[in-house]
Amino acid sequence: MKTKLCCAARKRARVFFQCHRAVEKMARPGWRAPAIAYLVIILIGPSGLGAEKGAAPTPNLDEVANLTKPTLALEGKYHVLGERNRNLDAQWFSRAAFGLFMHWGPESAQGSGEPWTCMVSEGGPEKSGIGPVRKYGFHPPSEFWEVARKWNPNSYNPDKWMAAAKEAGFTYAVLTTKHHLGYAIWPSKVGDMGVRQFLGGRDLLKPYLDACRSHGIKAGLYYSGMDWHFDHEFMNFSKIPGKKLNWRHEEVADLPARPKDYRARFRAFDETQGRELLTQYGKIDLWWPDGSSPFTVAKIREMQPGIVINNRTSGWYGDYATPEGAFLSRVDENLPIIREMLKRGYLWECCNLYNGGSWHYNPESEKVSEAGKLLWHLAIARSFGGNLLADIAPRPNGEMPDQFYERCRELAAWMAHSREAIYDMDGGGVYPEQCNVPVTIAANRWYLHSPPKHWQPHWGFPARIDSLVLQKVPKPSRVTLLRTGTMLPFDYDLSTETVRLTVPAELRTETTDVVLVELTKQAGERFQFRQWK
Ligand code: GLC
Repeated sequence: MKTKLCCAARKRARVFFQCHRAVEKMARPGWRAPAIAYLVIILIGPSGLGAEKGAAPTPNLDEVANLTKPTLALEGKYHVLGERNRNLDAQWFSRAAFGLFMHWGPESAQGSGEPWTCMVSEGGPEKSGIGPVRKYGFHPPSEFWEVARKWNPNSYNPDKWMAAAKEAGFTYAVLTTKHHLGYAIWPSKVGDMGVRQFLGGRDLLKPYLDACRSHGIKAGLYYSGMDWHFDHEFMNFSKIPGKKLNWRHEEVADLPARPKDYRARFRAFDETQGRELLTQYGKIDLWWPDGSSPFTVAKIREMQPGIVINNRTSGWYGDYATPEGAFLSRVDENLPIIREMLKRGYLWECCNLYNGGSWHYNPESEKVSEAGKLLWHLAIARSFGGNLLADIAPRPNGEMPDQFYERCRELAAWMAHSREAIYDMDGGGVYPEQCNVPVTIAANRWYLHSPPKHWQPHWGFPARIDSLVLQKVPKPSRVTLLRTGTMLPFDYDLSTETVRLTVPAELRTETTDVVLVELTKQAGERFQFRQWK
């Protein structure tokens, strides 16, 4: 009883705090609309009221959360409620390190690759906070659905994707089964937008799962809790106050009111789709809902006892936090948040775009980020016990961009010599206070991840590093470059317990160069990630 009261009080305090922040934001230029939406969600939506008992549609929650900067209060995507799954099968996640995120569906064929272009906002596309909207303008959902009717991915070969991914060191994958525009890539028996209607019932999900399983990659499913197609007759595709746009982006005086049984119907539909995904395809390793989830965490675990679930269920319940975007490029700014996540014992994963353009494919997606950038962000995430979920969007026809395969080869070459630095470790947390580059730790083996030789400012903080400085450690017995095994000379200052060294220019590469510092003493427990236990 006492705990229940205490929980309720805490929930109220949280709601109060979130409201306060939303109101504060309304005063800032450009923040009014999202802040009002946020306030409404906090007050009536599932996240504010801790709606873990019953999942309900969560309109636009995600976009709002995108615009919400992380704060130490750890709201939204940075926040994890409930108990983590202790089933033995669900313990792989902390060591998973590197995941491949694929947004794929008819949205990939529309041109902008961004379903949020459907949502018209104030000030025109140029003022949008979403890059592809600025570049490609607004597009009505009707246009996406027209494309969806004709979409035919005739070169879909997930086995080829996964074979390359495995070599590159990815250990898990997440594929969109349905994004916000509602197209189901498996033949769902409910709804009227998906492969059942437009591809003769061809199941695009099963080949992906088969490929993951045959290459030993943990299989994750992204599922959007919002379904704009289910809602399209009633939904306002405008965020401009006082302006209503229907799904063809025609301005209307009023939109039809949702019928009384709408909520119940949506719920039945959402639960049926969720149940199909979670019960008809064998073991699913990771459930990646976005916006909300048809089932409570408890119910999902009943269907899949060994599953890992992100925190984007209804009300941020789940196993781990999901910061996204430029989070890892701004470690300096985000350090307090990372520390707070660690203090609270959260597992976490950062998802980010690693090809040009948007989450789904657009022509810029042919350019895939440099291996150096991927490995640099991976090093940062691992040095704080997190995973990197790298979004690389497949082409509409189901092929991966050519550069994906090039990157996979480069990553595979790196993994061949330096894999242990991200997989065989269980500690860190000393960057940037004790060392000027990210450090991962396994007992007395400290791995210093030196940045690529040619630094790109957009890879994030810090700007450029030539010498490595590691402080407050006992004298190393040996320092080697992991790639070649070359012994590296170093200075040790006993009074400050500081190691200094420089990787010679001729030994540096365009990927991170891992320097193994072997200490004479084991690192203490305090360097181990508590949340991994
Ligand atoms: C945001 C976007 C969504 C994208 C997701 C990936 O939630 O709304 O389009 O799929 O981020 O994390």
